[in-house]
Amino acid sequence: MALKVLSVASECTPLIKTGGLADVVGALPGALAKAGVEMRVMLPAYPGLAERLSGRRRLGLDLGKGESAAVIQGKAEGLTLYLVEAPQYFEREGNPYTGPEGRDWPDNAERFAYFARVAAAAARQGLGRWHPAAVHAHDWQAALVPVWREEEGGGPPVLLTIHNIAFQGLYAPAMLERLGLSQRWNTIEGMEFHGRIGFLKGGLALAERLSTVSPTYARELMTPAFGMGLDGLLRHRAEVFSGILNGIDLDAWNPSDDPALAARFSAAKPTPRTKNRRALEARFRLDPAPHAPLFIVVSRMTRQKGLDLLLGAVPELVGQGARLAVLGSGEPDLEQGFAEAARTHAGRVGVVIGYDEALSHLMQGGGDAILIPSRFEPCGLTQLYGLRYGCLPVAARTGGLADTIVEANVAALRAGVATGVLHAPDDADALTDAITKTIALHAEPGRWKTMRAQAMAQSVGWERSAAEYAALYREMVTDRAG
Ligand code: ADP
Ligand code: GLC
Repeated sequence: MALKVLSVASECTPLIKTGGLADVVGALPGALAKAGVEMRVMLPAYPGLAERLSGRRRLGLDLGKGESAAVIQGKAEGLTLYLVEAPQYFEREGNPYTGPEGRDWPDNAERFAYFARVAAAAARQGLGRWHPAAVHAHDWQAALVPVWREEEGGGPPVLLTIHNIAFQGLYAPAMLERLGLSQRWNTIEGMEFHGRIGFLKGGLALAERLSTVSPTYARELMTPAFGMGLDGLLRHRAEVFSGILNGIDLDAWNPSDDPALAARFSAAKPTPRTKNRRALEARFRLDPAPHAPLFIVVSRMTRQKGLDLLLGAVPELVGQGARLAVLGSGEPDLEQGFAEAARTHAGRVGVVIGYDEALSHLMQGGGDAILIPSRFEPCGLTQLYGLRYGCLPVAARTGGLADTIVEANVAALRAGVATGVLHAPDDADALTDAITKTIALHAEPGRWKTMRAQAMAQSVGWERSAAEYAALYREMVTDRAG
């Protein structure tokens, strides 16, 4: 019989997405089905989500202390979903975390504490007749599941996955009382974190298993340089902490069957890529230059992604005859910086500020190389899309980027195994050198074609990692039984 696992997260593609977390949460159930796991997903009932579910029904849950909660069960896009109903928390326009001004909702602690509390109750009581044997919680928004479990009557074992340690859910200790959690969590073994309380901290202390989304990032997280204060705890729990690489959804990202492309293509027939490129030139108002390498960026605009470093490298990139197309949104100074670069280098640099899923596909299908100069990168998905679409990644040697890209050094080029260009993170000169190197490689058509074919031949799907997750859930369940 399939092992039942409840996945608890704040985002899930294609229903609600701000970044890679959504893609991973949306892809795991399909990938895990093949590994003998039945995964269902619990999300907050953001506006309009319930209406998108078929076969809807409402389930009640008992939260204890005379309180009750409701979740809406239904199906969408092949997923079975449970939406935590709480209009006072989730019926708001805008993004799951921020209001219209781009600032965090002031009650995020209450919102996601409630979400996790309902998830813990659901895991304990079951959802209708569906009783999960384990919970897979993602990031700080779901990290309180094991804390509520201990607070309110037990429940199945929890795997907590860190997608991004930069977001920890840190609040003043007085928040515990506001949330209805006891003071016992205000200790170093619980949620206490340098005089505050941390949602992620509590989850990392109490979940049975911990993971992050690449082996290299798992190692990095156990060092002070990357751990953001949680490295000590992760070292302490190293035996139950692992790195499992993200995959991508090979159906949603398939260059030979992608409705967002102007022309479909494959590793065997890459020529139609030029049509996508022309579509990009039109969309980004770039002067046609069929032989110049076209770099792309598809990214949240934050310091994590190192885009401030890229701004500094733009004159050099353009000076060497290359083109740049940027799609992203985020920090205002970065948005302004790129908008200004597009004005300064009109016809050579094009920028679209915003979020556009279809355009992101077209860019992977028409660009020559995707730039990902991240300061840290737990896994990164855009380099995987780039590999699959033959848009070669030029990326910082960190986290999942280091695990998924084979650097075009002399030996790798000679052996025909190179798939991209890696550079030292957080280093403007190294980034510029990597861009220069990429332009030189692109100028050798034979070499470039070999690299592109090699990139497109990589296996970037979920098969292997799904088996690793399945093994982990089984271990948790067996440990509990033993
Ligand atoms: P992160 O989760 O840190 O943002 P990932 O590389 O894991 O980084 O995932 C980012 C996801 O969001 C990818 O699917 C990427 O294509 C998508 N994305 C990021 N910015 C945009 C944008 N402006 N428009 C469309 N898709 C975007
Ligand atoms: C986070 C990370 C990114 C990762 C994604 C999905 O947002 O920043 O590197 O790919 O989660 O795990």
